Amino acid sequence: MSSVSTDSRAAVAAQLAEARAATFALLEPLSDDELARQWSPLQSPLVWDLAHIGHFEDAWIGQRVGGLSPVLEEGEELYDAFRHARDGRGGLPLLDPAAARDYLCRVRNRSLAVLGDESLGAEGDPLLEDGFVFGLVLQHERQHVETMLQTIALAGLLHPGGGPRPVPGSGDVLVQAGPVRLGADDAWAYDNERPLHERELAAFRIDATPVTNRDWVSFVGDGGYRRRELWSDEGWAWREADGAEAPLGWGDGTVRRFGRDEPLDPDEPVQHVCFHEAEAFARWSGARLPTEEEWEKAAKAGLLRGIGEVWEWTASPFVGYPGFRAFPYPEYSEVFFGDEYRVLRGGSWATHPSVARLSFRNWDFPIRRQIFAGLRLARDADPIASLLGPGDRRAALEADVREGLASSPKRLPPKWHYDEEGSRLFGAITQLPEYYLTRREREILEAHAADIAAASGADTLVELGAGTSEKTRLLLDALRAAGQLRRIVVLDVDEVTLRESVARLAAEYPAAEVKGVVGDLERHLAELPREGRRLVCFLGSSIGNFDVEHRPRFLRALRAAMAPGESFLLGVDLVKDPGRLVAAYDDAAGVTARFSLNLLSVLNDELGADFDLSTFEHVPRWDAGRELMDIRLRSREPQHVRIPALDLEVDFAEGEELHTEISAKFRRERIEAELREAGFEPRAWWTDEAGDFGLSLSAAV
Ligand code: SAH
Ligand code: TRP
Repeated sequence: MSSVSTDSRAAVAAQLAEARAATFALLEPLSDDELARQWSPLQSPLVWDLAHIGHFEDAWIGQRVGGLSPVLEEGEELYDAFRHARDGRGGLPLLDPAAARDYLCRVRNRSLAVLGDESLGAEGDPLLEDGFVFGLVLQHERQHVETMLQTIALAGLLHPGGGPRPVPGSGDVLVQAGPVRLGADDAWAYDNERPLHERELAAFRIDATPVTNRDWVSFVGDGGYRRRELWSDEGWAWREADGAEAPLGWGDGTVRRFGRDEPLDPDEPVQHVCFHEAEAFARWSGARLPTEEEWEKAAKAGLLRGIGEVWEWTASPFVGYPGFRAFPYPEYSEVFFGDEYRVLRGGSWATHPSVARLSFRNWDFPIRRQIFAGLRLARDADPIASLLGPGDRRAALEADVREGLASSPKRLPPKWHYDEEGSRLFGAITQLPEYYLTRREREILEAHAADIAAASGADTLVELGAGTSEKTRLLLDALRAAGQLRRIVVLDVDEVTLRESVARLAAEYPAAEVKGVVGDLERHLAELPREGRRLVCFLGSSIGNFDVEHRPRFLRALRAAMAPGESFLLGVDLVKDPGRLVAAYDDAAGVTARFSLNLLSVLNDELGADFDLSTFEHVPRWDAGRELMDIRLRSREPQHVRIPALDLEVDFAEGEELHTEISAKFRRERIEAELREAGFEPRAWWTDEAGDFGLSLSAAV
């Protein structure tokens, strides 16, 4: 064994002896009956683990390296982990505890002889490189000590004590985007940690400390185990079947630990939760589980406290790293690859330090809770999710322009008003003396935000077509004052305005999680985050900008994206004196006209079109029959417009009108009927003092 020096032989022998002493000491106080019993279908009888440790050692050292025949003829049949499932091992003709101990001793004597045999390994057997096979056997035994401790804890057999210790501190840390070196090339690293390789990760946030019992008590108290929306389908199926209402072993303020009920320490990291519970908790927290890559990057950067108190569930399925090669046999890792298992990282209070290295990958079924596992939370660093990437936006604009300018009469969808400049102009509109809508809606919100917060019971506010969410702050303040506010989600097509708005909201509501979604409310409602009990707001009478056929479609799509009991707050401008209506869309200062014309600027800027804005005029009309403002752009002269990006040329006759927007005006009965039609139940209706504007609160039913 040229690759292992004499010094390291002595060190290896000492480590083997130490591990064995730990194994025997753990089981020493138990009776033969306790050792032989199958306590749970989840765990092997302890005496099986014991003899299995010997079998594994004999298979790799005595037989494979030493070339010897098995110490125990039926070792393979009884103790190979792949022959029998855990729940069937109690029925096998296992060695009794005394015989098992004796088996381990005989195997060990041969191992030590192999270790001392200077002639072995000269031919460069990779198994012997740096004593790999001894590391394999050692770590295997240490891991089984933890497995046996799980069995002892589950059976409540004796009280060796032990559990995770409180980890001081709180809060999360930002991990910047950039590379991480994943895995290990240490001599004794497992095949699944290899090869050491580099990966690029996006920026993320991760908690400095694991989730505590205190956190989990809040989750339970908030109905975490009853709220379907927090769970994945698979997770909910598990919860329903298991009936779980709290982590394994929890009583009323107590936790069962090795057969005794102890008071629950709120500061300890939570343990005995399965992956599904961890995932539901994360969703409830407005966070997510870290991927194993994120965990390893943060851990290697020294940013994580409390590593080694509980195994930490990650979001990652157990798969091979790029360039993975099974070594020394596929049964160690490779046969487990796939999405059936989830990776756990770190190590528990029961894990030996030789195993708890930062690259170590544990894996288990997502339903396992008898393991000493908890979690820590992670979040996306960028609070903006884009459902409308630059490519999508461009493709949608091109399609809309191509179709709209080819139709007769010509038309363009209103959402293209809103680039950065369009949003700025709209902000200016809301300040105009003629544009009463914003002020009236604000007046209603000032009077009733608290009622809305109470009636909705919401912890999450979702705003569609949010813009700068100015008025929405009245609702947010009311939710916060009621102690309800956890999460804010704002959706808009205009990414620039959305980003600024999200940054300001995050600063003003530091206790809430703020997310921005760049998206189209005609396409992306189903992709809105679903966490929490939501109050969806659609303000500013923007619903009036849908044409008559799109409005019911929008309401139905929204209803489909909501859970029963969630609330919908809708602001609508009411039918009134046409003089005031027209003035609101044709102000004296000409701001609305500029806003209207901005649509053509967007086409110029983004598609290279050559619209001459001075040759078009803003034409707002009241359509009394349809009860809507009909807004168009009229060409003052005959003209020819080129749109190079679309390879398109368009003619406008003198006086020809391009339909850009409608703004429907409402009556209470009609909008409530439309809401009912779509599956909402109107619950409250408010107007301002003057009766100009209406606010409807309804529930998804
Ligand atoms: N809610 C604000 C802003 C209304 S202006 C208020 O009440 O004052 C309309 C907003 O909706 C703009 O911010 C615009 O960018 C956005 N918007 C328009 N069409 C949209 C669409 N199809 N999808 C998503 N957002 C849209
Ligand atoms: N949702 C606003 C409304 O209908 C949008 C708007 C205000 C608008 N002024 C406009 C749209 C002028 C087009 C032109 O009142």
